[in-house]
Amino acid sequence: MSLTKSLLLALLAVVALAGVSAERARYDNYRLYKANAENAEQLAVLKQLESSSDSILFLDGVHIVGADVKMVVAPHKVPDLLEILGKAEIKYLLQSSDVQKTMDETDEKVAIKGRAGEAYNWAQYYELDDTYAWLQTLAIENPGVVTLIEGGKTYQGRSILGVKITKSGKEKPGIFLEAGIHAREWIAPAAATYIINQLLTSEVEAVKQLAENYTWYVLPHANPDGYVYTHTTDRLWRKTRTPYQSCFGADPNRNWAFHWNEVGASSNPCSDTYAGPSAFSEIETLSLSNYLASLKGKIQLYISLHAYSQYLLYPYGHTGDLPDNVADFKKVYDVSIAAVNKRYGTTYTGGNIYDAIYPAAGASVDWAYGTQDVRMAFCYELRPSSNSFVTGFKLPAAQIVPASEELLDSIVAMAAEVNNLGYFN
Ligand SMILES: *[C@@H]1O[C@H](CO)[C@@H](O)[C@H](O)[C@H]1NC(C)=O
Ligand SMILES: [Zn+2]
Repeated sequence: MSLTKSLLLALLAVVALAGVSAERARYDNYRLYKANAENAEQLAVLKQLESSSDSILFLDGVHIVGADVKMVVAPHKVPDLLEILGKAEIKYLLQSSDVQKTMDETDEKVAIKGRAGEAYNWAQYYELDDTYAWLQTLAIENPGVVTLIEGGKTYQGRSILGVKITKSGKEKPGIFLEAGIHAREWIAPAAATYIINQLLTSEVEAVKQLAENYTWYVLPHANPDGYVYTHTTDRLWRKTRTPYQSCFGADPNRNWAFHWNEVGASSNPCSDTYAGPSAFSEIETLSLSNYLASLKGKIQLYISLHAYSQYLLYPYGHTGDLPDNVADFKKVYDVSIAAVNKRYGTTYTGGNIYDAIYPAAGASVDWAYGTQDVRMAFCYELRPSSNSFVTGFKLPAAQIVPASEELLDSIVAMAAEVNNLGYFN
């Protein structure tokens, strides 16, 4: 083959690859249905759908009986779905007949790349490398206080980058904050970076104490490949990007090695709650768990940020049995949801994962609590509430600050109560 010809072929291959990666998932004419199972049989029908079909995207986990379940349904799948719901006599409502249009109506606002002179802020969402650049700047600007940490690696070779903050200059009891393990839940990493900024700059006495009393480990992006993919290709992507036979990705919050895949997860690679082929099959959870294990004994409080529905949750997800220190979990839960409500009247509910939302084995908080002796572990499902927007993962950018402010209020109260109960000693 001549040089020019092979060069040309190579060029064509690059063009083809670029063409593939530039293709964006669209949800034109997809419908959004809200269904509600009134009994166990109907719930089983929804669960079966959730674990089997990637033509139906579940925006909520399949809840306990009586809770709403929103589904984004591919046009070709609508007749089948309606027949299945009809046969099972499951009540449903059509909420949107064009999900793409509904999504486009939310003013999400993403930072424009390379806009000169604009400081990192919370009036917009950011792409991964913008946030990573900001974290690197923080480490340079705050020597002795901010240290870059690598919580792990991703399938596509990225770093799970975060910061360790020692505001007092000394090692203190540890709080670990992990966000963004589910790629499409954009408010979670935005709130995590807001908290980093407040820990470093706030003049409010309670926040200054929060920064000084503890050593903080904050990872805004626990699933970087997935997050990048939500920007480049599919805004509703949830999982990692590991290729499996017919579909991509495992649910990194169903992949941790603690009662892995016992309940509330799927064995189908096309499901959004695919547990993976084995516990810690995902390099993201494997490497992050190794990092956490290296900190064993140093972390007393673990916080995982998700969206949406306004829940505060604690272990366990795999069983309705309650943790032995559930009385303390309840005390901390009570003060934390009271505090989240104070500023803007935002209502959170919750409790133990299994009963408050749905059985779900293999989550990070359960692993931290169940295997690492982290005696206080919580998961926030941030704004919006489950009934306010049809596509709750797209929280308008104007709500990043209020959602984060009330979260910080809640975490201040949480840490103080965990401290009162003696867990930091
Ligand atoms: C920080 O420590 C002080 C002094 O021990 C304590 O009174 C306060 O409640 C702590 N604040 C938080 C948020 O942990
Ligand atoms: Zn989530």
